[in-house]
Amino acid sequence: MNILITGAAGHIGSYLMRELSSKIKKKNNLFFLDNFSSNKYNSLFNLNKKTKFFELDLSTCKLSEIPKCEIVIHLAAKTDAAQSSKYKKEFYTNNLPATKKIISYCKKHNALLLFASSTSVYGPQSNWVDENCSKKDLKPQSPYADIKLKEEKLISKKLKNFIVLRLGTIYGFSEGIRFHTAVNKFCYQSATDQPLSIWKSAYNQRRPYLSLFDLTRALAFIINNKIKTNTIYNILSNNYPVKDIVKCIKKINKKTKIKKVDHEIMNQLSYNVSNKKFCSLGFNFKSKLYKDIKFTLEKLKNIN
Ligand SMILES: NC(=O)c1ccc[n+]([C@@H]2O[C@H](COP(=O)([O-])OP(=O)(O)OC[C@H]3O[C@@H](n4cnc5c(N)ncnc54)[C@H](O)[C@@H]3O)[C@@H](O)[C@H]2O)c1
Repeated sequence: MNILITGAAGHIGSYLMRELSSKIKKKNNLFFLDNFSSNKYNSLFNLNKKTKFFELDLSTCKLSEIPKCEIVIHLAAKTDAAQSSKYKKEFYTNNLPATKKIISYCKKHNALLLFASSTSVYGPQSNWVDENCSKKDLKPQSPYADIKLKEEKLISKKLKNFIVLRLGTIYGFSEGIRFHTAVNKFCYQSATDQPLSIWKSAYNQRRPYLSLFDLTRALAFIINNKIKTNTIYNILSNNYPVKDIVKCIKKINKKTKIKKVDHEIMNQLSYNVSNKKFCSLGFNFKSKLYKDIKFTLEKLKNIN
C-alpha cells in the first residue's frame, strides 16, 4: 500500500517521517509532501535515505504531480490558531483549496482520506463532549477551527472513504516542532527563564491534549487494522488543566514562574473531550505528559 502524508515538514509530519514506518507493515511505502510555507527545511535533516519527499504546494499543484497512493494522511495547513483572526484570508485561501485538492485526489485514486481535524471544532462546552455532539452545538472560536469544520463537512459530502480525526493539542518533541501550542510554548518559556504566559482564567480549565507518540500509534493502528470509516474519531491522550502542565514543568525546573495574560481567542475555555469511541476499537492511549515534557525540556536544557 502507498501512503501519502501531506504537511510532512511540520510538527506532526516531521515526527511521522521518522517514526511511522516502524509501526506499520513493511510492505507499505510512505510518500511525504510539503510546500515549506512554514520554512521548516530543518525537518529534512538526517532522514533515512529511502525517504520519498515531494516539494509541492497543494493549493496550486496539478493532481498528476502528486504520487499515486491508496491512503492519504492530510496534515498540510496553516495552523497557528491564535493568528488566524489576524490572517483570516491567508488561512481560508490556503487551507480550503489544499483540502479540496486532496478531496479530488482521493476521488481520482479511490484513496482513503485520514483528515487531521481538531478538537477546537467543539469550542467551549459545559459538559463532556464526544463525536455525537450535534452540528448546532459545535462552537469553533477561531477562523482556524471554523475552516476545520467546513473541511469536515466537505469531506463527508464529497467522499465515500474517509476518517475525520479530531486531534487534541499536540505536545512532544519533533524535528519540526512548533512552539505556538501550550505545552511546547511553556517548555520554551521555562527553559529560557521567562514566566509561563497563562491565559487568564485558563489555569484550572481542562482541555484535550495529544502526544506525538500516541498520534503515531493511532495512525498506525488505523492503517494496520480495518476499522470503521466514514466517521469521526476524537484522538487525544487525555484532558488536562493548565495547572497540571505547570506542575510537571515546575517539577523539572523549580525556578519556573507564571504570568497571567489576556488573549482574544476564547476557545481556550474549559472542555473535556471523550476518546472512548476510538478506545472502543481496541486502542489504548499510553503517553505520560510528564515524560514528554521532560524530554522536550531536556532538548532545550542548554538554551540559556
Ligand atoms: N499541532 C496541534 O496541536 C494540532 C492539533 C489539532 C490538529 N492539528 C492539525 O494537524 C495538522 C498538522 O499540524 P502541525 O502541528 O504539524 O502543523 P505545522 O504548521 O507544524 O505543519 C503544517 C505543514 O503544512 C505545510 N503546508 C501548509 N500549507 C500547505 C500547502 N498548501 N501545500 C503543502 N504543504 C502545506 C506547512 O509548510 C507545514 O510544514 C494540521 O492540519 C493541524 O491543523 C494540529
